[in-house]
This record gives sequence, structure tokens and C-alpha cells, in this order.
Amino acid sequence: MSNSIESVSREHRLFPPSEQFIHHATISGMAAYEALCEEAALNYEGFWGRLARQHVLWREPFTQVLDESNAPFYKWFADGKLNVSWNCLDRNVDAGRGDKTAFIFEGDDGAVTQINYRDLLARVCKFANALRDQGIKKGDRVIIYLPLSIEGVVAMQACARIGAIHSVVFGGFSAKSLEERIIDAGAVAVVTADGQFRGGKILPLKATVDEGIALAGKKSTIRTVIVIQRTGAEIHMEHGRDQWWHHLEVGQSETCEPEWVDAEHPLFILYTSGSTGKPKGVQHSSGGYLLFARLTMLWTFDVKPDDVFWCTADIGWITGHTYVAYGPLVCGATTLIFEGVPTWPNAGRFWEMIDRHKVNTFYTAPTAIRALIKASETDPETHPRNYNLDSLRLLGTVGEPINPEAWIWYYTEVGRSRCPVVDTFWQTETGGHVITPLPGVTPLVPGSCTLPFPGVQVAVVDEAGHELEWGKGGSLVITRPWPAMIRTIWGDPERFRKSYFPDELGRNLYLAGDGAVRDSKTGYFTIMGRIDDVLNVSGHRLGTMEIESALVSNPLVAEAAVVGRPDDVTGEAICAFVVLKRSRPEGEDALSMANELRNWVAKEIGALAKPKDIRFGDNLPKTRSGKIMRRLLRSLAKGDEIAQDVSTLENPAILEQLKQTA
Ligand code: WT7
Repeated sequence: MSNSIESVSREHRLFPPSEQFIHHATISGMAAYEALCEEAALNYEGFWGRLARQHVLWREPFTQVLDESNAPFYKWFADGKLNVSWNCLDRNVDAGRGDKTAFIFEGDDGAVTQINYRDLLARVCKFANALRDQGIKKGDRVIIYLPLSIEGVVAMQACARIGAIHSVVFGGFSAKSLEERIIDAGAVAVVTADGQFRGGKILPLKATVDEGIALAGKKSTIRTVIVIQRTGAEIHMEHGRDQWWHHLEVGQSETCEPEWVDAEHPLFILYTSGSTGKPKGVQHSSGGYLLFARLTMLWTFDVKPDDVFWCTADIGWITGHTYVAYGPLVCGATTLIFEGVPTWPNAGRFWEMIDRHKVNTFYTAPTAIRALIKASETDPETHPRNYNLDSLRLLGTVGEPINPEAWIWYYTEVGRSRCPVVDTFWQTETGGHVITPLPGVTPLVPGSCTLPFPGVQVAVVDEAGHELEWGKGGSLVITRPWPAMIRTIWGDPERFRKSYFPDELGRNLYLAGDGAVRDSKTGYFTIMGRIDDVLNVSGHRLGTMEIESALVSNPLVAEAAVVGRPDDVTGEAICAFVVLKRSRPEGEDALSMANELRNWVAKEIGALAKPKDIRFGDNLPKTRSGKIMRRLLRSLAKGDEIAQDVSTLENPAILEQLKQTA
């Protein structure tokens, strides 16, 4: 953490916006940015109300902008009625953009398909009608367990069209994770595929769904499983429950009257990790979320009518919700989606695709950039210099702090020192960018996400919620509600209040869970990483407790503690300290045991949660009161000299054991 502050405060390079952006950007120049911030400061509701009227199509207009009467359960535009899919699709077709390409899809194997707005609307309507035929109605929860695909977006939009609440589960999550989400959401249907292609391999999806539903047993509320044929793999179809997507679509009308919903009607639930073992179902609204998706597309990405926009995130994450499935469509943009992985068939795939599809805006995670830097060093043919990349205008990053070295490489080697890099800070809970540069406004500093998005009120505070002076590190908070904020944790309003609006902070401050510092001269924000028990591995969020519970559920494990350690490529890596019920394994035995535990975690949560390091001890270092000394474990994981006082340790010899990775 301190490393990142130091390297950023040593960072004096400043990259002012280019003439091109200053002249052509929607928000152009610092004065325009400041005017927006001032408008919001003077009349917060007036500001958001004006934007909501300008940018969202309302079936029935709202009369109240913000209702704070039941804080922190805020309501935005509550008596307004709309439909999100109508805003994303009909709106564009009606405006004469029916022929415009909505999505360009490139498969793992390189095959390209395109769909325009008119056809996308027709497909969404057909599938929405099919869902209605299955008895799925407004407010029902539908799990989507699909690869990144046009169908994935169609499924999300079709749910929005009929007012069903989707919950997309990333295809890398296990049957066990599906089971938990099916039960927690009380979902009535799952939309999945017979399998998915990734990196030249076929991976199962439907089989995992079957297992997830079986695990849920009597607690499963699933009535229907809808299956897309993608790989042609042999799968089991449960009579009376499972239906092929292409059968359900037959004979369906290409029009579908939208379900008009209140602005606060939940658009989706997306599960994310918190500091306890149980993932949280983050609930988002329809109206406020859509407004923010559109504004951030227009202001942060400065999206233009002829742009080809590419956000590499999967629809299983919030980035894929806001910047693949909703934001680009509500702006009538053309979006590229890619089924595969950046390193297959080689690490030049992204750059090749940027050239092939003439991508203008490219948005990815620092971990991908670092992996591609590494790959280009071992295989120089995959270096971006071998590609044209002339179409690029703007670059973006998201998901974790970006180290200045990676930022500079991205800026110079990919952007050819011509494209601004917007380092966008946000979270599943914030719905869209909350701290970010705007390309026609903000002088950039590598490693800093710079300034708040216009209207969003952000601060760095101490433990009691008092704002700190610039230059002092503290906890990042959002001091006023914003339209796209999380509304509650599905089924657990008390956990929502406690996790995000803790009493200690007072005054209903939203606690982001990240450490941050503002530059003492510019006020620019630098994010220092999570200050709770949440890890960020390759931009994926995982709870340490979640992984610990997975490990201790193994019959051989007596005790486990999980911490993060810095990693050059993945940002953080998972390091697990494990005590077995039998004697401590060594050598070959330790290696095979470690592998077994990794696979166990993959089965419990998903491959993304596999610990990189596993270390076995006879015991874990604990304080006299029996608390695991996590700080000490973090030092051990990092390979640091132990500076802490270890005199209270029952068995100091275990420190030596825990230095060794299996
Ligand atoms: C956490 C949220 C937002 C979409 C992807 C992740 C970290 C996110 C940045 C950034 C530094 C960042 C934070 C945050 N994070 N963007 N630009 N700079 N850190 O969403 O899974 O909800 O994770 O990702 O730690 O709290 P998420």
C-alpha cells in the first residue's frame, strides 16, 4: 500500500488533454467541468433532475428527484416510470439508427458476427416474449450463466424489458457458487449455454448449472432452465425443466410491449465479495442506474456517433453490465465483444482486434496490461508496436490501482502518446465511474484516478468520519447519495446499512472500503487498495473469509488463514496458510496436498479463487486472546523481514515453517 503512495507521489509527469479532445469533447476544458461541479454544489437535486430529464426517456415523468426520508435507503426519481430496454433499443431504432451496428462479436476462433439495433430489438423482444411464455414476470429473478456473447446481452435486455430482475453469474464460478446465488436470489429460471469456448478449449456451463440446482435440492426455486446451443457438446436436458433457447424463440413476435416500471424497480442483482464468507447481492435500480450509465459513457468515454467502443470485461462483472450491456446501448454506440482470452492464440490478440475492428476506445484492466507487457517481452512479435493502432482515440483502465510503469507503457506503446488514459475508479456498488479523469478536461497523472465525476461528492476521512487534509491517507467515502448507487443488499437491508453506512462514520457517509489520499497540491485522488478483508486478484474481488471457509470445509483442514500479497501481474495474489488435521506435510507430500486444496477451492468458489501460494504450518500465529495475527501473515506472504513483536507467540518456530511455500 505504502509503495503505491510513494511511487505516485514521486510521479511528477503531467499529461494535459490534447487539443483534439479540448476542441471536440462533450465536456471541454476545466472551466466546463468546474461549472458542472458548481451546479451540483448549489442545487444537487436540480442538477441530477435536469440531467435525468435530458438523458433518460420517461414514460411518466418524475416529480421528486431524491427522497432521503428513509436514509440510507435513498430513492431517486421514484414516481417516474420507464423501461430500460426501451431506452436502450426502441429509442435508437425510433431515432433512425436501426441499421447501425450495435454489437460486433468476435468468437474465440476469430469468427465475426454483427447485429444492428433493429435486429437486436427484434431478438430481445422474441426472447422477452419467450420468457413471458415461461411464466416469468415482473420482479422474478433470472440467473444468467453465459459466456460473453450477443445472447448474453439479449438475455439481460429481455429481462429488463419484462421487468424481471437478472443476476448474471460469471461463467468461471463453480456449481457451489451458483447454488448459493440461486437460493439467495430465489431465482425462478437460469439462462445458460451447452458450453463455452475459451482459449481454444470447450468449457462446460450447463453441467455446472445441473450440479448447482442439484446442490440446492429442495431449496431450489428454479422452474425453467433455458439453454443456448453454442458448442454442440452433448448435455443432459431435464424433461419438463430444460428448454432450448432456439425452440422457445420459434413463432415469437418481434415486438414486445415493455413492462413500465418505477425508477426504483430493481434492474439487477449482482453478487460481489465482502468481508464475510457470504457474497452480497448488490441491488441496482432502473432509472438512476441508467442515467449514470449514459452520462459516464458520454463524459468519461466521450463516446461519439461513429465510435467503435471496446470494453473487454465479461458481463459477469459490473463493468460488463454498465459498459457492455447498458451504457453503450443507451448511447446508441457500436460495441465490440470478444468471447476469448487476450493471450490466445497469442498475446497480440487485443492489438490485432483493435486494428481489425477499428476500435476507437479501448477499456481494460491493469492486470491485462501487465500480462501483455510481460508477454511482449518474451515474444516481441506480440508487442503493440507491430500493429497499426491508428484508430485508437482513448484508453481506459479499471478494476485496481495501475502502477505508473504500466500506465506509461499503455500510454506510449498502445496509445502512441496520443490517447488519454482514463483511470476510472468505481465499484460494483457505485454502478459507474465515481472518480475519473475526463479526456477533454483533466491533466493526467499516471497512477491517479484524479477527480470526482461531476456531481459525485467524494472525500477522504479518518475513522470517525472527519475529512482529512490533502496529503493525508485515510478512508474513501462518498458524502452524498448518487443516482447509480447500490440500493440495498438483496434480502439483507441490515447488512447493507452496516457495511456501507456504519454508525462510526456518522452522517450517512458511504464507505467505499478503499484507502485513498489526495495530492496536497492538486487534490487528485490516489487509491491505495482495500482496507477491509477484500482482495483484488486480477481485478476480481474476493473475500479472504470466503476462501478461508472454502478451505476449512475440506475434511483434511483444521484451520486456514488467507491474505493477499503483491504480485507483478495480478496486482494481488492469494496466499493461504493452512493447518491440517494430520501432521504437517513436507516436500512432495506438501506439493500434492497444495494442489488438492487448490482444486478444492476451485470447486467451492471457482478457479479464480485458487490460492497461488499455500503454506503449511503446525499452527497459525495468534495473539494471546487467540486472534490470528494477520499483519504478521501479510509480512510472511510478502517475504518481508518480521518487524512485529512476536514475543506473544505460543510457538515462534512456526514462523520458519510458514516462510516456505509448498
Ligand atoms: C474495487 C471494486 C469497478 C469495476 C471493477 C471492479 C478497486 C476499481 C479502480 C481504480 C484503483 C480500483 C477498488 C474497488 N478498483 N477501480 N481505477 N483504481 N482501484 O469492481 O469488483 O466491485 O471492485 O476495485 O479496490 O473498491 P469491484
